[in-house]
Amino acid sequence: MCGIVGYIGHREAYPIVLKGLQRLEYRGYDSAGIALYDGKDLKMSKTKGKVADLKKRLENEISTNGTVGIGHTRWATHGEPNDVNSHPHYSNSGDLVIIHNGIIENYDALKKELKKRGYTFKSETDTEVLVNLIEDVIKKEDVKLGKAVQIALNQTVGAYAIAVFNKKKPDEIVVARLGSPLAIGVGEDEFFVASDASPFIEFTNNAIYLEDGEMAVVRRHKEVKIRKIKDDSLVDPYMHELQLNLEQIEKGGYEHFMLKEIHEQPNAISDTYRGRMLVEKGLIRMAGVDDNMERIANAKRFIIVACGTSWHAGLVAEYIFEDIARIPVEVEYASEFRYRNPVISENDVVIAISQSGETADTMAAIKLAKEKGAFAFGVCNVVGSSISRETNAGAYTHAGPEIGVASTKAFTTQITVLTLMALKLGKFKGTISNSDFQFYLQEMERIPGKIKKALESDELIQKIAFTYKDAPNCLYLGRGYNFPVALEGALKLKEISYIHAEGYPAAEMKHGPIALIDEQMPVVVIATKKGHYEKVVSNIQEIKSRKGKIIAVVTEGDEEVRELADHVIEVPETIESLTPLLTTIPLQLLSYHIAVLLGKNVDQPRNLAKSVTVE
Ligand code: G6P
Repeated sequence: MCGIVGYIGHREAYPIVLKGLQRLEYRGYDSAGIALYDGKDLKMSKTKGKVADLKKRLENEISTNGTVGIGHTRWATHGEPNDVNSHPHYSNSGDLVIIHNGIIENYDALKKELKKRGYTFKSETDTEVLVNLIEDVIKKEDVKLGKAVQIALNQTVGAYAIAVFNKKKPDEIVVARLGSPLAIGVGEDEFFVASDASPFIEFTNNAIYLEDGEMAVVRRHKEVKIRKIKDDSLVDPYMHELQLNLEQIEKGGYEHFMLKEIHEQPNAISDTYRGRMLVEKGLIRMAGVDDNMERIANAKRFIIVACGTSWHAGLVAEYIFEDIARIPVEVEYASEFRYRNPVISENDVVIAISQSGETADTMAAIKLAKEKGAFAFGVCNVVGSSISRETNAGAYTHAGPEIGVASTKAFTTQITVLTLMALKLGKFKGTISNSDFQFYLQEMERIPGKIKKALESDELIQKIAFTYKDAPNCLYLGRGYNFPVALEGALKLKEISYIHAEGYPAAEMKHGPIALIDEQMPVVVIATKKGHYEKVVSNIQEIKSRKGKIIAVVTEGDEEVRELADHVIEVPETIESLTPLLTTIPLQLLSYHIAVLLGKNVDQPRNLAKSVTVE
């Protein structure tokens, strides 16, 4: 889950590669590095830390001229994040330079072989092994770079998106992909290579996405040639026209991407249902569901696989599908599912939820389910991502690019898509009445306005954040539809403020967490009117009698909880199953403000990455 970027063309490569790295930093920020070819020689600079650190270092270290360059931002897998282990990596001769996102699993065996043949290694990385393997092939077999990359990759086991440059053949960059994403931006007499399209969006709208097992030689003044790594067969490149624009990937006046993305939720949700929900006609159109209606509606069971925040969206969806469409649902961590021997049949539909569409474990879970005959449905945000291509059908979330590492709008738009799907299936199966169906559609249309209302509590939440910013622990409680919201609230706090937080079903509190409650312990309780309200009020009383500090998220106008709680944050009223779309908002803001007050890096929290393409 590193970010890679490269340029070959007629412009200065340095600013393009550097800016590209900044845009890809969401993929990892343990270290950053760049290699530029100035027409005579290769210049390289790399450092532990962020792209900003690299920029500072570059200013004194190397000349930044040249029209070819590659760069890398790293999320460390092999070797600690220090300068030496940072990418790019040279081959022993210094002719080749490589950047790599992924893991070469058999690197140790390959390294031993290469050592016997006299190769030496400066770093502990698998990547330095790969670049020397490529060099060894060139020497032994006297082949060009493209062929050497192909031969070398056929000896590896693992995952990669790589870009390799040979200073002796300075008019080409060779790229290859297996398991990690790689896009080629095609401009007028210039090419860009990158983990996603964000580094080149202001230069071209044309992109080719390599498929797993493909490689390309990107050559000046030539067409891109794509081949299968395994058998060298030529593949016809498919040119995507990108819909992305620059504004979508910039902060637009907000201090952080996370805050911008929290505030984008009203629009993101309406973008997600626009064109799908035809309220006047009483219809939901979703091509991925419509085209496979019998298969999906007659499923014996849905198995939802996902990781992180997407897994929480899956938990909310479990309630919705069972409630509205009466289809039994299991929600699984993709990483656990794939390493069990799960019982899957042809009557199952496996739904993969993934913002990035690149999460390695979710991808592997889908492949496993398909092998066992299940129908795979993807709910992804990134258009053209690996999971969206691997699944039999799917529905995009249309949240727009999410850059902040802590997921916000992806979560609420995932819930939106899954709700539409449940309603559509419920209508088809007759498990929801026409009037209820219609009421849902109307209420869904009101959700963006209600989120705007929920966002108005920002100032109040900032004050609450100030009161509790130094708490070492925090408990989040919710029931029913809001139990997954409690999990998500706790995850948000952990991710960006590094405060230990736990989410729990409110009723389970008395089976353990209640022992933690004292006058120091803030407890965030979701206590909306619709959804086991009286029971949650009892839970609040239990906390109060142990002197815990209660921050309650309540329905507008609630007086009962106001009497009991230390702080109340109101959200507008809605149908119970849509409450997560509202109750999530204050929890996102609370963790945001606490992290800001603590001086943490909100958009790039330590040790995390947005797109986890390693297992
Ligand atoms: C990482 C991100 C999370 C995200 C999870 C799943 O851990 O930091 O924000 O929820 O991966 O990612 P996906 O792209 O599959 O939704």
